[in-house]
Amino acid sequence: MNYNISITKVKQPKYKSLDFNDLPFGRIFSDHMFVADYCDGNWQNPRIIPFEPIAMHPASMVLHYGQAIFEGMKAFKNKQGEPVFFRPEMHAKRINASAQRLCMPTIPEDLFLEGLHQLIGIDHNWIPTTENSALYIRPFMIATDEFLGVRPSETYKFIIFTCPVGAYYSKPVSLYAEQHYVRAVNGGVGEAKAAGNYAASLLPAKLAQEKGYDQVMWLAAPDFKQVQEVGTMNIFFVIDGKVITPKTDGAILKGITRDSIITLLKDKGIEVLEQHVTIDDILDAHQKGTLQECFGSGTAAVVSPVHTIIIGEQKLVLPDVENAKIATFTKSTIEKIRSGEIEDTFNWIQPVRILEQSLA
Ligand code: COI
Repeated sequence: MNYNISITKVKQPKYKSLDFNDLPFGRIFSDHMFVADYCDGNWQNPRIIPFEPIAMHPASMVLHYGQAIFEGMKAFKNKQGEPVFFRPEMHAKRINASAQRLCMPTIPEDLFLEGLHQLIGIDHNWIPTTENSALYIRPFMIATDEFLGVRPSETYKFIIFTCPVGAYYSKPVSLYAEQHYVRAVNGGVGEAKAAGNYAASLLPAKLAQEKGYDQVMWLAAPDFKQVQEVGTMNIFFVIDGKVITPKTDGAILKGITRDSIITLLKDKGIEVLEQHVTIDDILDAHQKGTLQECFGSGTAAVVSPVHTIIIGEQKLVLPDVENAKIATFTKSTIEKIRSGEIEDTFNWIQPVRILEQSLA
């Protein structure tokens, strides 16, 4: 479908005064945002406007009953300086899977993608060019009915805004296996990128940090044996040369970086098992000396290596992350595909379409 996206540009772009060498994550916002409203059963009035606060009625349903979903994705400049997306259609599909679970309307994939191309086309000067920096893109949808009855909202707002972010240096982390609080259960909303999942993770994360550990390793209720995720990321283990990641069974986010890692490793002939993995498997492997690597995967960090795992009274120290071959290979391969340094054999990269009117 051809969407007529109206465009109102800022008078004075702010990127000209931006220090591209100092880009803390999620604090600097680009000049424009894409907005569409859902009303009377349709997405209406798609528009690109100057980035600005949104006025909300205090009874807006999102504020009370939490119909809120989001995506996290990135645009980059490749070696030739051309702006590109990484697997944008996967994010379009995933936000719709989240929408369905939260009883929200889906967004036509072509509207999601068109909004994305036009917004990033207009703000392409915000994409940083230093190594491994990116434009972080945050599409999200919220319920806007002004009503306190508990039912699905009939109106929604879909917004995309962006933040330039510097290279994400992920210092190796320690994990605390959480055996009291739970992130998600099968049949719940753990598979969706629902805002509430992140709210539910904050207290256990804070308690783990107070104990001196960086991130929570989430386990499945009710027996707290099966590993699900780490912090806000999917988790991978390398045990005795085999790569193992928990299978997505309803409580685990279907990570796009997770999928990319599995695809890359299988392509290289490395065995990847998507199966249940328990803390007993990890303890056993550590005792046998076969626990070689553990890392988290997500859009923000790509790969985040783990140096220690705390399970109950036991402290498992992993081999030096400098020698973590799988983590290093996957992170650098994804980064090289994004920069165009190696061939994009999986068609993951999509050039940003820049309209003539967007050229500054
Ligand atoms: C990611 O690691 O990609 C995330 O989902 C983190 C984000 C919520 C900031």
